[in-house]
Amino acid sequence: MRTSTTSVALGLLAAAANAAPFKTSTVKRQDAGKIVAAHFMIGIMQVRSSAADYDDDMKKAKAAGIDAFALNIAKDDYTDAQLNYAYESAANNDMKVFISFDYNYFETSESDAVGAKLSEYCGKPGQLMVEGKCFASSFNGDNDPSKLFNANAIRAAAGTDLYLVPNLTPTGIRDATALADIDGAFSWNGWDSNGANRAPTAESNVTTSDSDSAYTEWLAGKTYMAPVSPWFFTDFASKAWVFPGDLLWFRRWNEILALAPKMLEIITWNDYGESHYVGSDSETSLHNDDGSSAWANGFPHDGWLEMAQPYIAAFKAGSKEISVTEDKLVYWYRPTPKAACGAFDGIDTLQDAVFVVALLQSAGSVTVTSGGNTQTFDAPAGASAYQVAMGTGAQTFALSRNGASVLSATGGLEITENCSPINLNAFVGVAKGNAASVPAPAAAASPSADVPQVILSAAALASVTIAVPVLSAVALPVVTPTEPASSFAPAVTSVAPLPPSSASASSISPVTPGAKPPVSVSEAAGTFTLTATPTSVQAPGAGGYKVKCTATVTASEQIRPTNCLGAGQAWAGVGDVPDRCDGAAKCS
Ligand SMILES: *[C@@H]1O[C@H](CO)[C@@H](O)[C@H](O)[C@H]1NC(C)=O
Repeated sequence: MRTSTTSVALGLLAAAANAAPFKTSTVKRQDAGKIVAAHFMIGIMQVRSSAADYDDDMKKAKAAGIDAFALNIAKDDYTDAQLNYAYESAANNDMKVFISFDYNYFETSESDAVGAKLSEYCGKPGQLMVEGKCFASSFNGDNDPSKLFNANAIRAAAGTDLYLVPNLTPTGIRDATALADIDGAFSWNGWDSNGANRAPTAESNVTTSDSDSAYTEWLAGKTYMAPVSPWFFTDFASKAWVFPGDLLWFRRWNEILALAPKMLEIITWNDYGESHYVGSDSETSLHNDDGSSAWANGFPHDGWLEMAQPYIAAFKAGSKEISVTEDKLVYWYRPTPKAACGAFDGIDTLQDAVFVVALLQSAGSVTVTSGGNTQTFDAPAGASAYQVAMGTGAQTFALSRNGASVLSATGGLEITENCSPINLNAFVGVAKGNAASVPAPAAAASPSADVPQVILSAAALASVTIAVPVLSAVALPVVTPTEPASSFAPAVTSVAPLPPSSASASSISPVTPGAKPPVSVSEAAGTFTLTATPTSVQAPGAGGYKVKCTATVTASEQIRPTNCLGAGQAWAGVGDVPDRCDGAAKCS
């Protein structure tokens, strides 16, 4: 169930921050002692050079109701400089932060160093305190005997009171840390899975709610920091799969309001590599490219943050209901139908649809047009979700009431049949605001009135209208003899046909249809060539193609070993060159 031992994220962690019960907090918030954290990857922040470089993140998160960033760290040579900037910016912006030690990198033998790091940062004003104790978390830490989070050893080394909520699991290795040694646990299981860190199947399906139950039963009243994540798509050479996204962001928030855990951690603020960022767009120059620009650039997700805002407010108020103060249609969709993308781990769990969450002050009529498919839904006041079969072309979203247009918008990305390189990330937008001339609904006259506008509890979810219309016809990708097998190298820039039948029939090993073909590599000045061995999934005569180094990767050492270089990627980061996952020689 957890995302991983060998993979997962470039860094993750969780956090929390805030309010009343924490003695260092100067923020006065109306809340029920709940804490909302967001996972923040330090490993792609080498480029930042001042506390001010963190201000935008701090302000934006705070405005959304997030209390703290969980600063996921490894052991890079720039880690301390970045932690100091982040702590300073948090203090300057009335935010909180805490460290999330990434136990893909920290080792059992390093508990003293982990404790020492905490004693160094715990006293800073930006530190999240819970019940007067310095809050800390982890990513992983109980699944590899050499990389165990040892709560007692860390406490001893820190020399200050700690509130420890690491990413331990109900079934993890327990010889380092017993349940009695921690204050709570953070779960990474923000997506339905097969229980083995891949998308679920009909036979093996561990849902987010199954995982919540396992955690709360195990924790028996200790703090549960629940995960909330909108999406998951990653396509590094070392890790390439998708978890079911679709309407997860809507479903999960309703699940969270019903469950009402003490803390939650949004996964993530800025992990572009796994496509679950809800903070700044990937285009910002304030992070290094870990290779994920291929699928994250041009795919804003801040509409998801906007959608979460009323849910965060409800969660922190201990409410099961959200309150809507402005009409909005939050929409998202992948850039291409599945069939255009070919085989990809987990892709069958995604639907070819355009998704819309209506946040309405009063009932209205929502019209969604995806290419040639148009559907209109009667939407109630509050939050409700819809989906329409994906059609290529423009995507439009409109709200009307009593026949009069309230607002409309065209999605900033057209859906096409071009899935090369493969991209299963989501484009997210918000339609709102262009209705100034429309008479405001009665409730708007008294913005602070507690009009019970929208309700979306888990129970209410059952009544959510989810129309699943007929799929539009989708052209299958045309495979020509000179094309590589779909989904192979994101960086194919030229194609060189092999001489016909250069491999004998006996040398062709059976492969799964659509699988990446085995490759051999040769390298020459600045370019390396991957030559695919012809397989049964390739058209006759297919085989060779050249790949140039087209992507420069400058992220942290966290790229090793979880995100080793993929085809076409050149290393420009710190340290020696990471391994290539596909066995290819490095680009120069
Ligand atoms: C897993 O179970 C959930 C809840 O019943 C369901 O919505 C989802 O479709 C299932 N996933 C698969 C792949 O069967």
